[in-house]
Amino acid sequence: RSRSPSAASPRPHLLRRPYSSESVPERKVAVLGAAGGIGQPLALLMKLNPLVSQLALYDIAGTPGVAADVGHINTRSEVAGYAGEEQLGQALEGSDVVIIPAGVPRKPGMTRDDLFNINAGIVKSLCTAIAKYCPNALVNMISNPVNSTVPIAAEVFKKAGTYDEKKLFGVTTLDVVRAKTFYAGKAKVPVEDVIVPVVGGHAGITILPLFSQAVPKANLADEDIKALTKRTQDGGTEVVEAKAGKGSATLSMAYAGALFADACLKGLNGVPDVVECSFVQSSITELPFFASKVKLGKNGVEEVFELGPMSDYEKQGLESLIPELKSSIEKGIKFANQ
Ligand code: NAI
Repeated sequence: RSRSPSAASPRPHLLRRPYSSESVPERKVAVLGAAGGIGQPLALLMKLNPLVSQLALYDIAGTPGVAADVGHINTRSEVAGYAGEEQLGQALEGSDVVIIPAGVPRKPGMTRDDLFNINAGIVKSLCTAIAKYCPNALVNMISNPVNSTVPIAAEVFKKAGTYDEKKLFGVTTLDVVRAKTFYAGKAKVPVEDVIVPVVGGHAGITILPLFSQAVPKANLADEDIKALTKRTQDGGTEVVEAKAGKGSATLSMAYAGALFADACLKGLNGVPDVVECSFVQSSITELPFFASKVKLGKNGVEEVFELGPMSDYEKQGLESLIPELKSSIEKGIKFANQ
C-alpha cells in the first residue's frame, strides 16, 4: 500500500487502520447508557475506532439524536440508536462487546457505594437482557460501584446459565490513566512512556496503584509515593468536587472506556500480548474478584497475572483494602440473589 504523507492523507493518523481492511473482522459494539455524560463522548470515540463495524447506542431516551449526530462521521462503523426497553434486545443482538456506563453518577459528598441502590437495579436488568440477547459478548462494566456491579453481573449470568468468567470486566482503566498522568507529572518523565499497574478494586482505598513497578523508574521519596497514591485513589472525587454537582468524570472516563474496549477488540481479533488492568474473577488473592493485569485474547481473559513484587507500603495497602473490597463484593452477590 502506498503511504501518502500525513498532511495529504484523507485519513488522519489517529484513525489509520493497523492492518489492511481485509484482515479486520466485523465487530459490533453496544453502548448502554449512550446518551449520558460518559456515553456520548464514548460513542464518539468508538465511532473513531476502525475495529468497530457496527455501533449500537442504547439509552432509555435521547439516543436517536446521539446516533444521528455521531453517525454523520465518515468512519467505518454503521451507527444505530435504540431508545427504551422494547429496543434493548435489538441493540444487543450480535454484539461482540457491550459497554455499560448506564446509571447515576456521584455528587459532592457521595461515595460510589451511595450509588448502589439505583445502579444495582439498572445493572441487574441490563445484564438479564445481555444473557438473553448476546450471551457471548465481552461485558465492560463502567457503572459504579464497580466493586459491586461486577459481582451482580456475574450472579445474573450464572442464574441465566450464561456466565463465562473470561468475558466479564470491571473497567478500572481510568485509575490507570490517572496514575500514569500523576506519576509522569511528579517524576518528570514523558507521560506516553509511563506504565503503572493499578490493582484491587475501583473505589477509594481499594484502588491500589503499584508505583514501585512503574516505568520509567524514578527515585521518588516515600512522601511523594504516598501523595501520588492518595491522589489516584481520590482522582474521581477531585473531578466530582470540581464539577460541583454537575456529575463525575465523563471525558477522561470516555477516553479510558474507549481504550479498554479497544483492547478487548484487539484481543478478540487475535492481536498478541494485549494486557490491561481490569477487575475480573480472580484467584490471585482470597477474593473472588480482583483487579490486576489481564491478558486479553480471542475468548476474553486469557491470563490473570499475579501482583508481582510490592513495596511494604503497597503490601500494607493491599492488606487494608481486602475487608472493604470483600464486603462490596458480598453486597453485590447478596443483592443479585435476593
Ligand atoms: P449520566 O447520568 O450522565 O448518564 C447515565 C446515563 O445512563 C443516562 O443517559 C441515563 O439515561 C442512562 N440510564 C439510566 N438508566 C438506564 C437504563 N436502565 N438503561 C440504559 N441507560 C440508562 O452519568 P455518567 O456521568 O455518564 O456516569 C455513568 C456511570 O458511570 C455512573 O454510575 C458513574 O458512577 C460511572 N462512572 C464510572 C467510572 C469508572 O471508572 N468505572 C468513572 C466515572 C463514572
